[in-house]
Amino acid sequence: MCGIVGYIGPKSVDSVLLVGLTRLEYRGYDSAGVAVLDKGELHIRKEKGKIKALESMLRDHPVEGRMGIGHTRWATHGEANRTNAHPHVDEKKRIAVVHNGIIENHYELRHELMREGHVFHSETDTEVIPHLVEQALRDGKSIEDAVFDTIKRLTGRYSFALLHDGDPDRIFFARDGSPLIYGKGAGESFLASDVPAVVPLAREHYIFENGQWGWITKDELHVFNEEREAVPHDLKKIEVKAADLDKGGYEHFMLKEIFEQPGMLRRIIQHRIGDNGKLNFPEKAGSNDFLIRLSRLIITSAGTSWHAGMVGKMYLERFTKVATEVDLSSEFRYRNPVAEGDTKVIAISQSGETADTIAGIYEAKAKFLRVLSFVNNPESTIARESDAFINLMAGPEIGVASTKAYTAQLIHLLLYATFVGGIKWLTGKEERQELFEEVRRLPEMMEHVLERADVIKEWAKDFRETKDFVFLGRSWNHPTALEGALKLKEISYIHASGYAGGEFKHGPIALITDEVPVVCIAPQGDIYEKMLSNIEEVRARKAKIISIYTEGDEKIQSMSDYAFPIPKCSELLSPLLTVLPLQLLAYYVAVERGCEPDQPRNLAKSVTVE
Ligand code: G6P
Repeated sequence: MCGIVGYIGPKSVDSVLLVGLTRLEYRGYDSAGVAVLDKGELHIRKEKGKIKALESMLRDHPVEGRMGIGHTRWATHGEANRTNAHPHVDEKKRIAVVHNGIIENHYELRHELMREGHVFHSETDTEVIPHLVEQALRDGKSIEDAVFDTIKRLTGRYSFALLHDGDPDRIFFARDGSPLIYGKGAGESFLASDVPAVVPLAREHYIFENGQWGWITKDELHVFNEEREAVPHDLKKIEVKAADLDKGGYEHFMLKEIFEQPGMLRRIIQHRIGDNGKLNFPEKAGSNDFLIRLSRLIITSAGTSWHAGMVGKMYLERFTKVATEVDLSSEFRYRNPVAEGDTKVIAISQSGETADTIAGIYEAKAKFLRVLSFVNNPESTIARESDAFINLMAGPEIGVASTKAYTAQLIHLLLYATFVGGIKWLTGKEERQELFEEVRRLPEMMEHVLERADVIKEWAKDFRETKDFVFLGRSWNHPTALEGALKLKEISYIHASGYAGGEFKHGPIALITDEVPVVCIAPQGDIYEKMLSNIEEVRARKAKIISIYTEGDEKIQSMSDYAFPIPKCSELLSPLLTVLPLQLLAYYVAVERGCEPDQPRNLAKSVTVE
């Protein structure tokens, strides 16, 4: 994954790079580093661990300069240590490179360069880039030719920024597969993996396309395509505000984002459901004729977005009567799915940059299928590669464990399903109005749940030493069980598994002892009685029961060791509420165990490698 930044302008480069890297830390935090060019000399500082470690190294060993590049790493090739940290340099230290992606032919290139006498220091794939450029310079090429020739030799997915000691006014870059943007401020220029890294100094930006490369100066951007032709580039205003990127008084981004959900839902509902009850989906999500003909839907997504897809399948089948499959992107892309005719693919992604989901979109397009994506970043690769996209409108999500993007996905999938159902004349106006009335009450119901967050904070103390958790749910809340387990293991490192209640007796029940708490998601609804049977089964085996139930249900309360109510609502809306106490449980247990919820080990928010 990794995040890269570049800066050239009047400010002290180290502080600008550090701010940018901190904003990109969600992309990986195994190590970090900067290279600064000052008076024709490259100065490198890098350190294992998070940006804070680099910051303290820079305090002890400062660098001076007005142009530089920086990197925060999620290790792919080579251990997370200082040697493998970026920037990487050629042995004469004339070229420094930061890179996001994977150079797939690095092994062959490395051996070819070694035969030419190049000495490698790290185990990374990236190190071939500075050596290739340096070799081309050695062969008498200009720096522009050297960069261009180097790009031609690379296969894989990458974006990189490059400093050359002979070029005190330019930072070179290239993009093929991994995201990269240009930011323009007043007499200063930036490169970054994502827009937040350049806020608030840059006012405008340009998103590079695959195959583009070039250089920036403090005032200008020069972009070329694969044929070396100059590419015109219109800059767009940056809409992200600095206030969206801080913790707003919360201890962690994750907690802030959990609490943002009612307000976010209110905004989405207001935007999507008109006062007259008409749904507003101005995004070109397929002509009405096409939607009427639709015979099959395939949802492809990863992680939390996959869980949202599972709920989405139920919404889509219920309201559109179109058979819907949900596939993990990493499976969909390789299984050569049978898909033709009036089939549509729906890609769901918070970041819009998940490599497997992007590959799934290419797979679908190769089969001439139309792709509609649900993304939280309208400028992302997934949004741009899809035939149409629906903006999830969750606002920037920074905590690595996805929370508000999940509920934004659920509400959009629900509303989109009723929108298509309406076009197909399958849901009547009255049915829709009744549903929307309840949907409009959801933000308030969410607030009601979150007001009781302290109850879960207290419970968390009891689970500090717990080794295993089980989550059970059925029907609408089977995905909630999977999501609750994922949240807990992601940030607290407690082993947790989610199961469909009915499947539990077919094996997993063997795990139950009095040391394994079982979270039972059991709101009122069609399968409520079946969940009661599950609770009885685990209680009989002395497990501690944590239940999420509908307010007023005394039966469940009496059967549970810990019981958390959600307001009465239709069963199909319950996943938007039941997930909240599970997000809080994961968060407070993680904090109780001394874990860092915003930056869990080994994870990254945007998984741009396959
Ligand atoms: C990573 C993140 C998860 C996320 C998944 C899919 O694994 O850590 O939180 O659910 O990627 O990401 P996407 O951006 O495609 O929703």
